[in-house]
Amino acid sequence: MSSRSTCRPTTRAFWCSFCRGRRVSPCKNLRRRQGLSGTRSTFPPGRDVVWDGEVFRLEQPSGHPSAPKPSADRLFKSLADHRGQFAIGVVLSGTGSYGIREIREADGITIAEEPESCKYDSMPVSAIRTGCTDLILTPQQIGQHLQKIISTSRDLSSLKELNVDPSRSKDLLEILLAHTQVDFRQYKENTIHRRIERRMIAKGIDDSEHYVALCRKSVDEVEALYRDLLISVTRFFRDIEDFLFLADLLRETYSDKPPKEPVRIWVPGCATGEEAYTLAIIACEALGGLDKVASDDVQVFATDIDERALAVARKATYPIAAISDIRRDYLEKYFDVNQEVITVKQKLRSMILFTRHNVFQDAPFASTDIVSIRYVLIYFNSRLQERVLNRVLYSLKSDGILLHGTSETTGRTGSGFIQLNNHNRIYKKRDRKRTGRDTELAFTPEHRHGAHSGSHASTAVPDRWEKFDQLANAVVTNGLLVGRGQSILRIFGDIAPFCEIKSSGPDLLKNVSLLKKQFASEAASLLLVAFKYKEKRAGRWHAFEGVGFNTLQITAYPLPSEGDDEEDTVLLGFATEQRELPDAEEKSDYINYIEDELSRTRDALRVTVEHSPWPL
Ligand SMILES: C[S@@+](CC[C@H](N)C(=O)[O-])C[C@H]1O[C@@H](n2cnc3c(N)ncnc32)[C@H](O)[C@@H]1O
Repeated sequence: MSSRSTCRPTTRAFWCSFCRGRRVSPCKNLRRRQGLSGTRSTFPPGRDVVWDGEVFRLEQPSGHPSAPKPSADRLFKSLADHRGQFAIGVVLSGTGSYGIREIREADGITIAEEPESCKYDSMPVSAIRTGCTDLILTPQQIGQHLQKIISTSRDLSSLKELNVDPSRSKDLLEILLAHTQVDFRQYKENTIHRRIERRMIAKGIDDSEHYVALCRKSVDEVEALYRDLLISVTRFFRDIEDFLFLADLLRETYSDKPPKEPVRIWVPGCATGEEAYTLAIIACEALGGLDKVASDDVQVFATDIDERALAVARKATYPIAAISDIRRDYLEKYFDVNQEVITVKQKLRSMILFTRHNVFQDAPFASTDIVSIRYVLIYFNSRLQERVLNRVLYSLKSDGILLHGTSETTGRTGSGFIQLNNHNRIYKKRDRKRTGRDTELAFTPEHRHGAHSGSHASTAVPDRWEKFDQLANAVVTNGLLVGRGQSILRIFGDIAPFCEIKSSGPDLLKNVSLLKKQFASEAASLLLVAFKYKEKRAGRWHAFEGVGFNTLQITAYPLPSEGDDEEDTVLLGFATEQRELPDAEEKSDYINYIEDELSRTRDALRVTVEHSPWPL
């Protein structure tokens, strides 16, 4: 279904190419109620049009007075609600648009007219800016392509092929990893397959082998699949009850005890920014309103791996249709509104840092009061969800608040949180003074730990171990906690593949010299530097074959002591991946990596020479 107000010459080409060879009646003005089959309709001005599941209906406009009438957004939303994945939204030239996201979210196909071919390009431009358009085509191409999409089979046989031959989806995930450095292998398989299939339908391809071949040669298609996998759909005050509950909670908390430090909020998977701005508004309101707070009273770290979504977020300008999600008083206080767009006020913008960050690959933000991770975990498999939630646990202060989306749970990390209310997905982090029984929850059964500190199953666990456990769970799957003198204090996960037995005797497992020869010296250098500078240091990727991986990277995370009676420790993490090793074409990456390695070696040497407490 396309949206247009009048039949402009620029759109005639689209209709000609689409209608060629089909039985379509001449273009008519839409009557009050009208069926669909074989008709082209124009919408009369001043009224909205919605699809009610059986017919198109003309309705009184219900949006903001300055919203366009008829509203393409309302039409698209009604189509997404009733037709889901079978809806197709085409945005030709005109003004304003938001509802294209609704179609995309419902797994329908979205197409925007190539802006250069438009007389008025603001509507396709704003549709493209949402990052939710599958295809950007000229009017002639749209017509031809629609024919292809409509005739592409949707019997899910291509999806079945992906299940029968997992190497095809594995190939695609490896192509994606090489191109984007994002590893989708721990995302839910069904979601991945659905997204691949959507792209195949959008491209009119019904054989998964052909699609894999297309991705091998087309960077644009890999980019499109990447964006599709990220599903960067969001809105202001999504699940409003949760935000109202949070607003009350913060107001009560801060009226009793105004915060002495900035309120720190982390929003992983912030997409185009609406959720981050919503949280900043809620925090400002709880602190007495925008006029009362200083810009640094509220600090929001809004992160995502989708650079295009982040660019939209930083721009802070949204289509006028977004106003239907925002309370009128908030709209007046926090936004500038004009005919076509709304823009977040500068002061609110200055409280938010939008930055690229992978929630399971990059280090978590520390000492946060609120983490809002909504509609992100649903895309991860249960193991990855658990790992990310452990990062959230680590990130939050001891009474910090966690916000989830509907249908998201705290899973196996559940006992780290208390749900504050049965109706909302809002949790508080449990107090840190916990018993050993609680700590078991931070570990999965396959994690061996405490190798040299005894079993903690029934005794109270010192804070220091807890801190390590949380950090270790948050950042590594397999690792070692190392004290000064390279003594191993604790083992986490399975480190057996990285060790070799060089001698026998009681000290066999007590020292990092148990690591395999090819990385033992690098591990020692990383440890030296991490102890000295108290900074995280990553080693190089080693070619190293194991079950399900061919590369290994060692990273040292310093854990400085918090008191005189504690010693500094460093967590050595072993990350493994199946990845393509640099070839001649990736020379510049390779040079960067050699330079990094040189500088690491120099650092290590300097520290070794100046400060080493150990014999060289
Ligand atoms: C459906 S949107 C959720 C938007 C927002 N949190 C909300 O509740 O409306 C999911 C977002 O998660 C992001 N995402 C997916 N994997 C991620 C990862 N590994 N690290 C950070 N962000 C990720 C996607 O790019 C996308 O913007």
